[in-house]
Formats: sequence, structure tokens, C-alpha cells
Amino acid sequence: IPVDDFDLVVFGATGDLARRKILPGLYRRFTAGQIPASARIIGAARTEQDDDAFRSDARAAICEFGGAPRDEARIDDFLNLLGYVAIDAKGEGGWSELKSRMRPGTVHAFYFSVAPALFGDIAERLATNGIADAESRVVVEKPFGRDLASARALNETLARHFTEAQIYRIDHYLGKETVQNLMAVRFANILFEPLWNSQYVDHVQITVAETVGVAGRGSYYDKSGAIRDMVQNHMMQLLCLIAMEPPYHFDPDAVRDEKLKVIRALQAVPPADIVRGQYRGADADYLTDAEDPNSRTESYVAMKVCISNWRWQGTPFYLRTGKKLRARTSEIAITFKEPPHSIFDDSGSPRANQLVIRLQPNEGMNLKVMIKEPGPGGMRLVQVPLDMSFADALGSDGADMPDAYERLIMDVIRGNQTLFMRGDEVEAAWAWTDPIIKAWEDGKHRPEPYDPGSSGPEEALRLMHRDNRRWREIR
Ligand code: BG6
Repeated sequence: IPVDDFDLVVFGATGDLARRKILPGLYRRFTAGQIPASARIIGAARTEQDDDAFRSDARAAICEFGGAPRDEARIDDFLNLLGYVAIDAKGEGGWSELKSRMRPGTVHAFYFSVAPALFGDIAERLATNGIADAESRVVVEKPFGRDLASARALNETLARHFTEAQIYRIDHYLGKETVQNLMAVRFANILFEPLWNSQYVDHVQITVAETVGVAGRGSYYDKSGAIRDMVQNHMMQLLCLIAMEPPYHFDPDAVRDEKLKVIRALQAVPPADIVRGQYRGADADYLTDAEDPNSRTESYVAMKVCISNWRWQGTPFYLRTGKKLRARTSEIAITFKEPPHSIFDDSGSPRANQLVIRLQPNEGMNLKVMIKEPGPGGMRLVQVPLDMSFADALGSDGADMPDAYERLIMDVIRGNQTLFMRGDEVEAAWAWTDPIIKAWEDGKHRPEPYDPGSSGPEEALRLMHRDNRRWREIR
């Protein structure tokens, strides 16, 4: 369904995110017929260049990151939507020209793909120059702060010029098809919901494993570490979608209210329930990649998280994420409890059912169930997978799945905030993460080393063994 006509201004249009995600994503939505040919996409950045120079950069970005097939004529049509204004975020240059480019009567959206330190300057100039109004939308990227105080300050800065209903805070995990699917699985089936609580669920594992290291972005990453880079945002969102109560409606505030309740119910995590790791090896070494030979920043974190509410009391959630691990795999595994009693003698006892939702790659679901092993040998039990791959089930090869950014930018134009984080949600997530980070700042805690290509530090295994549980294999 095509969106309404819009003027989208991308601040930081010459930056990495714009080149890799925003421009190629917009191009793909354009070729899908979702963006009207009258729409305007205006790049804004410090570089002095004209529309044509920006278009030719955008063409290069689309060719590199826009996916196949490459259709020169369509690219030309798309480039016609593009314009460029050189802007001085901290000065006066360019703002009146930007204003003259905005058309009345269209949806106006401003994408802040810039360092958070510039949010305030840009927001203020948009307001004082009369470019943004009460209907305009602003889109902001992560990192949204580095602790509760800085996130609050950012929220206050934005709130000086925009209402909460105008602010779209991106967590690109929410734009992933498979992450949205978590809500469909939970709330469009009657099958799972009755079992989705501590009475029937033994524990939940959330894994986001990556094979990439931090080389090339060490200076950013070393100030963040896995907890700020992945846990406070992406993994927190996954945890919320798995743990939240059913919202009364699939409506932005109804969904975000329920997520917020989960975050507020998270227990503080004692140091003994967290393992931090750093990849250290001859082929890849965090300390070289991070450019600080003494860095104590973690490239891996595993933790046991408990939710103090009626539904989840007694069911731990184990989270782990890391760089330079054995495989790139993101999944959520829900391990159910074993049946209370086995009626089968000497047949192998029933094993726990497990539902694994694969977020990426090889998107799909796998439910492990017990059946009788076929054959004349009596009643022998065996566990088998009921496996569903989205690609097979829906007849697609995954290439036509929209990228997270495509979905999210179109939602901004549609004015749908469901998949964006609300200010209070972000603050609550920092309020929970802050004490964890603080405990590491005394400089005594060195992350455990782990081999690149492994599944993380040995200590993380112990975190599970201690509770008589095991991590699923990363592969
Ligand atoms: C980003 C993090 O937000 O998410 C990166 O900054 C991480 O460190 C990336 O690699 C993971 O995203 P995806 O979509 O590749 O799972």
C-alpha cells in the first residue's frame, strides 16, 4: 500500500547509516511501489555539494547495498526524488534553503542520522526557522544515551520542541520481520499462550551471536561494550516481546505500556549472574581491534535475568550476545517443563518440549516434541523436531523480506509508532542497565578471554551448569 506524499530530510546524509541502510532501503520501497513519485528525500549534511553530487553518491550506495536486481532506469527514477542541502547543524547556514525546499501539505519527517550531541542543535533550528511544526516527525537513532542521565537529557532536549507522538526512536530489531513475528506467534495462536508462564516454562534463552568483530568501529564500540550496544536495546526488546502481557490491541501505546511493565519488573542482576568476555586470539584480538591495549570493555556478555511478576516468577531468562563467535545466529529458545509424571516404563523418560524461534538467519520455528520411535521394539520415546522455515512455508527465499529500516521508515511516514521505543521505555531500560555497568567501572573486572570462533567464555557455561541447565549450541 503506497504511503502518503512526504518530504523526508535525512540529516547525516553522507554518513555510513544513510549509505548502507536509509538510502538503499528507501530505494527498495520505491521499487516496491510504496513511495509515490512525488515524494522528496532531502539529504542534509555539512559537506558542500549540489543535488547532482548527492545523487551520484546515492547511486553508488544503492548499487553497493541496494541488493539485486539492479535496474538502472528505476534507480534514475528514484534519484529524481533526491535533493541536497548543505547544513551547518550548529550555525545558521542552509536552514532557510531547507525551509524553501519543504512543500506544504505533505508529511514532513526529519531523520537525525547524526551523533546524539547534535540532536538539540538540529531540533532547535528546525523549530526556530519554522521548518518543523506540530505535525512533523523526528526519527532518532541509537545510541539513545549511554546511561539513564544522558538518555533523560536527550529526551528533555527533544521534548523542548517535539511531543512524544512526534518522536520515533529506532531500535532496528523491532523492524525485523521475525521480531514482529514474535507478537504474531504469541497473540494470534491459542496454542502457546496458556503455557507461556512459569508454571510450564522452565527457562528462556535469548541468543544474539555474531561472527564479526569490532575492527573498524573500535573507537565507538570500546566506549559501549556488549551491554550498551546490544543488551540495553535489542535484547531488551526481544525479552519484552517474549515476556509481556497481551496488549489489549496492536496499538502503539498499548504495546509499549506492556513492554514498559516488563522492564520495570526486571530484578537487579547480581554480579554472580553475569559473565563478560573479550575475544582474544592470534587471528582476531579485541584489544587490537579496540585500539586500546588495556581495554576492559566486553565484546560478550551472558546473564541470568529474572522478572518479578506473577507470570514469570521462578522462570529465568538467560541472555547472551557476543562478537567473533562460532556462528551468526539469533534465536529465542523456550524450554518447557518436563511432564509431571511418566507413564512409560524403561522407555527413556519424556524430555522437555522446546520451542526455538530462529530470528536470523534461516528464519523459522522449531518445536521439539516427543513421539514413539517407530518399530517393533515396544514403547520407546524419541524427540523429533516440528520444523518450519519461513522461506519454505511462505515460498520466498528471504531476498524479498524487507530490511528492518525499510519497514521502520515507512511506519514513520504512516505515523505508526508501534515499532518505536517510547521515551519512558528507553529510560527504564537504562535504569536497569546502569547499576550493572557501574559495578564494572571500578576497574577491577577484566572480561574473561574467549577464543574467536568459539561459543564464548567457559565461565558462561558455568552460569548455566550451576542451575543444571545448558546453553543451546551456537551453530
Ligand atoms: C547494531 C550494533 O545496533 O546491531 C552492532 O551496534 C550489531 O554492533 C548490530 O552488529 C546487529 O544487527 P543485526 O541486524 O546485524 O543483527
